[in-house]
Amino acid sequence: MNRKNSLKLGVLLVALFGVLILNTNIYAQEIVSKNIINQDVELKIDSIISLLTLEEKVAMCHAQSKFSTAGVGRLGIPEVWMSDGPHGVRGEINWDNWGYAKWTNDSITAFPALTCLAATFNPKLSKKYGVSIGEEALYREKDVLLGPGVNIYRTPLNGRNFEYMGEDPFLASKMVIPYIHGVQENGVAACLKHYVLNNQEQWRDHINVKVSDRALYEIYLPAFKAAVVEGGVWSVMGAYNQFRGQHTTHHKLLNKILKTDWGFDGVVISDWGSTHDTKEAALYGLDMEMGTGTDGLTSTSLNAYDNYYLADPFLQMIKKGEIEESIVDEKVRRILRLMFRTNMNKNRGFGKINNDEHLEVAREIAAEGIVLLKNENSFFPIDPSKKMTIAVIGENATRKMTLGGGSSELKAKNEISPLKGLQDRYKNATIVHALGYASGPPVYGRVIPSELDAEALKNEAIEVAKNADVVLFFGGLNKNYQQDCEGGDRIDYGLPFGQEELLDELIEVNKNIGVVLVSGNAVAMPWLSKVNAVMQGWYLGSEAGNALADVISGDVNPSGKLPFSFPVHLTDNSAHHFGEISYPGNGEYQEYKEDILVGYRWHDTQKIKPLFAFGYGLSYTNFNIDNVSTDKKTYTSSDIIKVTCDVSNIGVITGSEVVQVYVGKSKSKVKRAAKELKGFEKIVVKNNSTETVEISIAVEDLAYYNETISDWSLEKGTYEIYVGNASNNISKKLKIRIK
Ligand code: BGC
Repeated sequence: MNRKNSLKLGVLLVALFGVLILNTNIYAQEIVSKNIINQDVELKIDSIISLLTLEEKVAMCHAQSKFSTAGVGRLGIPEVWMSDGPHGVRGEINWDNWGYAKWTNDSITAFPALTCLAATFNPKLSKKYGVSIGEEALYREKDVLLGPGVNIYRTPLNGRNFEYMGEDPFLASKMVIPYIHGVQENGVAACLKHYVLNNQEQWRDHINVKVSDRALYEIYLPAFKAAVVEGGVWSVMGAYNQFRGQHTTHHKLLNKILKTDWGFDGVVISDWGSTHDTKEAALYGLDMEMGTGTDGLTSTSLNAYDNYYLADPFLQMIKKGEIEESIVDEKVRRILRLMFRTNMNKNRGFGKINNDEHLEVAREIAAEGIVLLKNENSFFPIDPSKKMTIAVIGENATRKMTLGGGSSELKAKNEISPLKGLQDRYKNATIVHALGYASGPPVYGRVIPSELDAEALKNEAIEVAKNADVVLFFGGLNKNYQQDCEGGDRIDYGLPFGQEELLDELIEVNKNIGVVLVSGNAVAMPWLSKVNAVMQGWYLGSEAGNALADVISGDVNPSGKLPFSFPVHLTDNSAHHFGEISYPGNGEYQEYKEDILVGYRWHDTQKIKPLFAFGYGLSYTNFNIDNVSTDKKTYTSSDIIKVTCDVSNIGVITGSEVVQVYVGKSKSKVKRAAKELKGFEKIVVKNNSTETVEISIAVEDLAYYNETISDWSLEKGTYEIYVGNASNNISKKLKIRIK
């Protein structure tokens, strides 16, 4: 470039960024509320694109390291830096391989897993979660946080269910929106994943999913749609699997549904190694390619980034005229838009990390998400003022659950174990701990069994349990491969590592036993009738032990509700009912034969009793739901149905209840689930008090996806409204008409 031209460029850039600085305030406000395309910014993007060389544009569309893409140094355009997600900001990874970079300033607050967040049924907490994790991402100088995930819980074997928000599209939709708003308020992009149908880890790189349009639109897409349309998410991650013979990272689903129908104006980022073809990547909606190995999914050779599908091969195709330059311009436009919202938003702050507020948020969400499943003889709460001996048995009482699990693994600054939490809260008690069983270390892609002597561990635990007043068993799964971990599914529905046998023997020596399950998935419970109590404890992050002690001691009254069903037997789950072709498939493809009947929709419709139902969870108090009514009996398609009820707390302590409204259409011309969640509200009710709850449902949300017209259809006629506090505990059924 000659001197005159470079002077011109300088003047243009000064003008450009000058306007930008003046406008940032207004712009910052706009970007957090709605994704209004800001015309000023679009003009700036036009100008920048006109200054970029073809090589620079292509370089922005693919990785330059494991977690970053190149900037354009000569124009002062920054690099884009990303991090996993979704429960905390991951430790720094090496430039060019999966090893940790061993920084000493990258430890963070670990927030509870998203299953726990979903179990709170409390969108306000989701907002707090998003704000806090966004602040941590910002402090760590990240522009994109790789989360949240909203793949639907289809089978309890899926190794990544803990990273998602359960089996119900309505619940996941309501919970994902505030998370995104919270993160993005910080000028950090959330990256919604994994779009779409990545509902198992087995064969995830290639499994070809066959599913009806109806199930796709009614079950698997709604949470993604809500995140885009109402959440205004700035980036979306493609998935590994195929759908109808095409990899989802470069698929018609992106241009048609995501970008056109839903108006997504952000960046589609590949999953790490999910890109397979230059032309498809160019033409079918992928904007940024990440993590492609030159010789496989997780292995790279140094500086291979130029060989990426969206690198030199893309450049060559554009140069040869096989792909139009406007295609790369469109990708760069989206990338720059994301940058104006994040690292080129001069108004963004600096973030915060590991502060008390974040720990409080983590603890509040953890405690509110814990679900009390069984509580015979008021086993819980256990009075902390009493002098007694508590036997704390089980590896999960001390195991670090932020380690392992795959890409969501965290380097938590602190992780309070359940044992520590109890020791701190139960100062008057004697707490004795025994491992009882042991698994090996959390290694990705491999099972390394424990070297400890299983028999000796069991005997020690039995001795400890014998002499205790109370036994608390901390078991469940962990973040090892083939447990709750990316890259593989569970192979068994039961408890692993000999826990079932151990539990049987513990029950023999001490009947006063309660179980705390630490897991992100349902497990079989053949021992259920023999224990007094069961609590679902999830993966709770930095404050795990404190939050568990809060609920166990009664400092917090439990109010979590299950975001997915626990089947008695694996084959009671709809994905498994139809045999291997449905799950896990034949290695090449699988058919979602249960169609729209996922989770409780299946249990209810087929009248297969679950062990614990979707939406279920006990409290230390009792509630009555009555005076249920709707504001009208007959509605038109544009109406809002207002469902009202009274929630009375008839116990002796304050508690929170989740009122759930399900809708069914028993006489329908199409297949229907017996009922589907259409509204919920969590409410705090003082003892001996009554609160009135009103829940609004838009009539148009009762439509079904009509495959014959490829659009939604609203059936007229009678619908049933079910109001209760669990999908299987309905206090009142009402009928309404749609005319
Ligand atoms: C996972 C993504 C993750 C990415 C980067 C992939 O293996 O599927 O969820 O964000 O790795 O770590």
